[in-house]
Amino acid sequence: MFKVYVTRMIPEEGIELLKKYCEVEINPEDRPLKREELLEVIKDKDAVVTQLNEKVDAEFFHTAKNLKIVANYAVGFDNIDLKEATKRRIYVTNTPDVLTNATAELAWALLFTAARRVVEADKFTREGKFTGWAPNLFLGKAVTGKTLGVIGAERIGQAFAKMSKGFEMKILYTANTPKEEFEKETGAKYVDLETLLKESDFVSIHVPLTPHTRHLIGEKELKLMKKTAILINTARGPVVDEKALVNALKNKDIYAAGLDVYEKEPEITEELKTLDNVVILPHIGSATDEARRDMSVLVAQNIIDVIEGRTPRTLVNKDILEK
Ligand code: GLV
Ligand code: GLV
Repeated sequence: MFKVYVTRMIPEEGIELLKKYCEVEINPEDRPLKREELLEVIKDKDAVVTQLNEKVDAEFFHTAKNLKIVANYAVGFDNIDLKEATKRRIYVTNTPDVLTNATAELAWALLFTAARRVVEADKFTREGKFTGWAPNLFLGKAVTGKTLGVIGAERIGQAFAKMSKGFEMKILYTANTPKEEFEKETGAKYVDLETLLKESDFVSIHVPLTPHTRHLIGEKELKLMKKTAILINTARGPVVDEKALVNALKNKDIYAAGLDVYEKEPEITEELKTLDNVVILPHIGSATDEARRDMSVLVAQNIIDVIEGRTPRTLVNKDILEK
């Protein structure tokens, strides 16, 4: 019987679906497996449902001798060595589309929270400091009519940009190639990174982590931004040089930041926790009941595709088909 290991409990919809087709084993504990535990449980499995904080590398593949598919429970797959997977003819799949709106919505939550100083103001109110309306209490930044800079206009970046419709914003974006449909629909303008950083009031990052995007935003880029600008990152932490960001926030080179991801998760640069002009969330971009349910179903469908001899529907290492 086809054997699947699921490294963390995920919504039951996907698990129930899997159980109709194969033997399913799930990490019973609500914690990540230690590396040696992980390597032990995957030994005899045909499929593994992995999390974005688990390294899937040559050692992993070497250990899981029967492995046919790694179904990552995430849209990002920078935790997986695709070359090794393809070399060993192992499918790698991710969970695109089903978490696009959830992640774009969280980017907006961060944008507004940072712009209107929601966390600071909430803390102030809880601490009993609210003594009545005051003309200078927690002034923030307006959003309507401002310029939105979208770095990386694929699924999530485009969804994020489209959600700005009611706020009548000018949209600038960077991407590998111009996106005609997207421009038609939103009036977005394709620019280079320097122009985007110089002209945007809000800059939101939506690129995957690759060698090319690591530290895409560093000291030089932060200096290009307006002093009144806000940086949002719901993509991957290492896209931003976290040290440089801390300095920019401390020196008020930019107004604020909203972060859901960090350079060395789960570690967070200590100073970030002491700054008022940054909102820090624990990597919850796709964390809605709806998105997580649909992600669990999608990982199951990909595995079932393999069991039934089809190409998995959201295959990442497509070059495996050519070999
Ligand atoms: C979350 O970060 C994901 O890649 O799905
Ligand atoms: C990820 O889903 C992206 O394409 O932005």
